[in-house]
Amino acid sequence: MEANVPKRKEPARSLRIKVISMGNAEVGKSCIIKRYCEKRFVSKYLATIGIDYGVTKVQVRDREIKVNIFDMAGHPFFYEVRNEFYKDTQGVMLVYDVGQKDSFDALDSWLAEMKQELGPHGSMDNVVFVVCANKIDCTKHRCIDESEGRLWAESKGFLYFETSAQTGEGINEMFQTFYVSIVDLCENGGKRPTANNSASFTKEQADTIRRIRNSKDSWDMLGVRPGASREEVNKAYRKLAVLLHPDKCVAPGSEDAFKAVVNARTALLKNIK
Ligand code: GTP
Ligand code: MG
Repeated sequence: MEANVPKRKEPARSLRIKVISMGNAEVGKSCIIKRYCEKRFVSKYLATIGIDYGVTKVQVRDREIKVNIFDMAGHPFFYEVRNEFYKDTQGVMLVYDVGQKDSFDALDSWLAEMKQELGPHGSMDNVVFVVCANKIDCTKHRCIDESEGRLWAESKGFLYFETSAQTGEGINEMFQTFYVSIVDLCENGGKRPTANNSASFTKEQADTIRRIRNSKDSWDMLGVRPGASREEVNKAYRKLAVLLHPDKCVAPGSEDAFKAVVNARTALLKNIK
């Protein structure tokens, strides 16, 4: 007779991961981590000296994840201390302050620093990046809007979250999605799952939206010389309309860019005989 013995439940498969925080000084890296791990916010600025290290455990599906967090100092002074911590990282939290344009513009140089420290044989393709647009509670000082931040992040295949360490908004969702993506990566043989790997819009679309945002007048926006003819304006308009039409383009900010192009064309045609 077969004994009806219940099957022993497999122990949860455990996993160790390493994540690091990156971004300019004072953008709120340490506060984001503190908000998640200790559920509190410290308003006094206590600069991280070199690096802070902590361990936390989280559950993702059936797996217990031991997370080693290396919280880096953003100040250039600490470069020599933090540069050795880039290796063997599965996840990067890349933070900027939505009220400090410099901290947004610096994101590329943070990626460059990491790339340099990983050396010619290191790869950043197999690392999950989450961009945190932090301090969204400071609405009065905001100068980088959501579509600009999202466009930068998503055109690189990075996750993007709007966060406030002060109010806690977006913090749990950001960490949860970040950890799930890292576990997906580990289960996918260390490769970023293809869905996360590439943006759902082209580089040309992203670059065009950025160019339109930064254009100085309607001629510049359409990419024609001042004093161009009706035909030239219409030709340039049609090209941009095909590229940015909201039915065809899902890049963040495409709708506003499309509207701006329509308005620029209308304004120019009014004054061209
Ligand atoms: P370094 O360690 O020097 O690289 O800075 P950091 O990026 O770790 O910044 P930290 O977390 O220490 O925060 C810097 C300052 O910003 C502190 O005064 C925080 O109280 C404040 N701060 C952080 N996050 C937020 C936020 O979401 N909203 C507001 N209003 N202030 C924040
Ligand atoms: Mg810090």
